[in-house]
Amino acid sequence: MNCFIVTGASGFIGSYLCDRLCCENKEAQIIGLDNMNNYYDVSLKEHRLEKLNTYPNFKFIKGDLADKVLIDDLFSKYKPNIVVNLAAQAGVRYSIENPDAYINSNIIGFYNILEACRHYSVEHLVYASSSSVYGGNKKVPFSTDDMVDHPVSLYAATKKSNELMAHAYSKLYNIPTTGLRFFTVYGPAGRPDMAYLGFTDKLVRGETIKIFNYGNCKRDFTYIDDIVEGIIRVMRKAPDKKIGEDGLPIPPYALYNIGGGTPVNLLDFVQILSEELVRAGVLPTDYDFEAHKELVPMQPGDVPVTYADSSALERDFGFKPMIDLRTGLRKFAEWYKEYYMGGSK
Ligand SMILES: NC(=O)c1ccc[n+]([C@@H]2O[C@H](COP(=O)([O-])OP(=O)(O)OC[C@H]3O[C@@H](n4cnc5c(N)ncnc54)[C@H](O)[C@@H]3O)[C@@H](O)[C@H]2O)c1
Repeated sequence: MNCFIVTGASGFIGSYLCDRLCCENKEAQIIGLDNMNNYYDVSLKEHRLEKLNTYPNFKFIKGDLADKVLIDDLFSKYKPNIVVNLAAQAGVRYSIENPDAYINSNIIGFYNILEACRHYSVEHLVYASSSSVYGGNKKVPFSTDDMVDHPVSLYAATKKSNELMAHAYSKLYNIPTTGLRFFTVYGPAGRPDMAYLGFTDKLVRGETIKIFNYGNCKRDFTYIDDIVEGIIRVMRKAPDKKIGEDGLPIPPYALYNIGGGTPVNLLDFVQILSEELVRAGVLPTDYDFEAHKELVPMQPGDVPVTYADSSALERDFGFKPMIDLRTGLRKFAEWYKEYYMGGSK
């Protein structure tokens, strides 16, 4: 029986991935690991897990990536074929005040995953990297061939470090690894620390939303279903193991962007979001948006633009993100209405 371990299973992306894996791989066992930390509302993580726990082929383990013994025991017991590492301390701004969390989860935790992959002969390790590794890259769209040696946050530095560590393990131990640089993922049951959810909460409470860099920021928003489709296609095909002329392995290592490919100005984004919030009945039709918007300077750690070149993903896996921002925000707004205002919470 095939076994997949997904870390960060009660997180935003992890819960969607586990859902699809459980539905589409009835004969496989899906092990979800998460430490259920309180970086954001734990009840949202519990809500995501509720659905996963209804699948007979899903098993949840509460545990920390930084606990080496626990990770080793997990791999020893389940002998996973494929591992998808999504657990991480996410967020750029939080890393400015809370660096320890990033070192523990993203560096020590990721190292523990690599070590376990080495000792238990995992067929493919897929792991989350981030568009934030591009820092203030001026050249657009961002390509995985661009140099990314100048991170502007510790979060970005840990994600770039993951790519370097994975490369070394691929080379030294011939472990197939694929890193995925996700671009601003959004959707229903998304992360409350992200702008679209924070903006919505504030507007509902009648507060003012702050739009950074006076609105002159662009983000390449990517709908959650597109991200999950990309992960699943990548999971199925590990980079080939080959031996080089020196008799040593050529690292079975790959890296892809997964991004919508259509960067949107933040003011346009807020406009579409507000229209969809009204449409879903989250906000009244006569809501005075202008009175609740404030244009403010750039924040430390932020970057002015993100823009994915996902052509390598399309070339190798025949897939590129397709869901447009309005369609995605419509689904988000409808979910918000139901979850926060319709009594399911
Ligand atoms: N959402 C995005 O826009 C985005 C963009 C780029 C990269 N990413 C990356 O994708 C991955 C998933 O992101 P997400 O948006 O689902 O975030 P998320 O915070 O919703 O999910 C991460 C999960 O990992 C868990 N976790 C954190 N540290 C852990 C640890 N030490 N041990 C066990 N579990 C731990 C958390 O409890 C959380 O449930 C992360 O690696 C993130 O850095 C996300």
